[in-house]
Amino acid sequence: MNIFVTGGAGYIGSATAEALLAAGHNVTVYDSLVTGHRKAVPAGAEFIQADLGDSHSLALALTGQKFDAVMHFAAFIEAGESMKDPGKFLRNNVVNSLSLMDMAVRAGVKRFVFSSTAAVYQSSEEPLSEESPIGPTNTYGYTKLAVEQSLDWYRQIHGLHFAALRYFNACGARMGHGEAHQPESHLIPRVIQVALGQADAAYIYGTDYPTPDGTCIRDYIHILDLVSAHLLALEALGEKDKLIYNLGSGNGFSVREVIEATQAVSGVEIKVIEGPRRPGDSARLVASSGKIRRELGWKPRRDNMRDIIGSAWEWHKTNPKGYA
Ligand SMILES: NC(=O)c1ccc[n+]([C@@H]2O[C@H](COP(=O)([O-])OP(=O)(O)OC[C@H]3O[C@@H](n4cnc5c(N)ncnc54)[C@H](O)[C@@H]3O)[C@@H](O)[C@H]2O)c1
Repeated sequence: MNIFVTGGAGYIGSATAEALLAAGHNVTVYDSLVTGHRKAVPAGAEFIQADLGDSHSLALALTGQKFDAVMHFAAFIEAGESMKDPGKFLRNNVVNSLSLMDMAVRAGVKRFVFSSTAAVYQSSEEPLSEESPIGPTNTYGYTKLAVEQSLDWYRQIHGLHFAALRYFNACGARMGHGEAHQPESHLIPRVIQVALGQADAAYIYGTDYPTPDGTCIRDYIHILDLVSAHLLALEALGEKDKLIYNLGSGNGFSVREVIEATQAVSGVEIKVIEGPRRPGDSARLVASSGKIRRELGWKPRRDNMRDIIGSAWEWHKTNPKGYA
């Protein structure tokens, strides 16, 4: 298939682009590099550096060849920042997604795979299934929900088949590629920065959550497991017109547990600073991913925290400046 990958210079989009190429698909990456890295784009992919907000470039790119599918990774992703500057997130994540959807329909694209998030759910003590109550606690989560719901109207009205993959926390590295957000807000790379001497301390936002050690609990899913689910969803959209799946390992780890695992893997003692809760954070987000396991036969293979940190640690040690 010919696949149009927005955000293919980012962490998850570039890993997926690489796997698509390996599976024999043709890949065009469309990315402004606002937070991505040119070096992360796999060599076999065509690369277009442009912004989704640039409707002329987008139209040219999407009509330049006949695309079978769009995989839409491009977005702003920092939940904390979305609670300070909601307009920035609504414009990029919602408005630009709508332009992309319109353009994709006009160009005759039939399949659309969307990067959604666990942040669409309300916080819950129970593992979150696709039937769990929806209720984003931050603007970022709301933007993803708005796009999911819009996609459903495009499905009904334009016949666009779509998959919304609700990722829990992506983590880990794959051969030669790792997580390098700008700025980095994700826990594992931030703790690794401390282990590498690039940051002074790891911050814990909130130690009074109703969890065993008082810190937030999250589900971490290895990048390679995340990628394999995209390929399965892409195929399944040949028959199904709507897929909504959680993508998580089903294992929850607290902030403290992540810090301890990083200490154990790196052998470096990590200084910790404890502070108040951040707005928009929920106590516990853990996936029940039974639905995609049952329906598409997906199975996460790398759900041990030490292995996850081990792969990330190796990459960051070898690439202390990320892609710079
Ligand atoms: N990383 C996670 O744990 C996680 C969890 C849940 C959901 N997601 C979603 O997965 C997707 C990818 O996340 P990531 O971690 O790879 O982020 P990332 O920041 O590494 O990648 C995003 C990419 O999109 C590009 N981009 C952003 N806005 C753009 C625009 N207007 N035009 C063109 N390109 C643009 C950036 O340059 C970057 O390369 C995002 O949609 C994110 O919301 C990520």
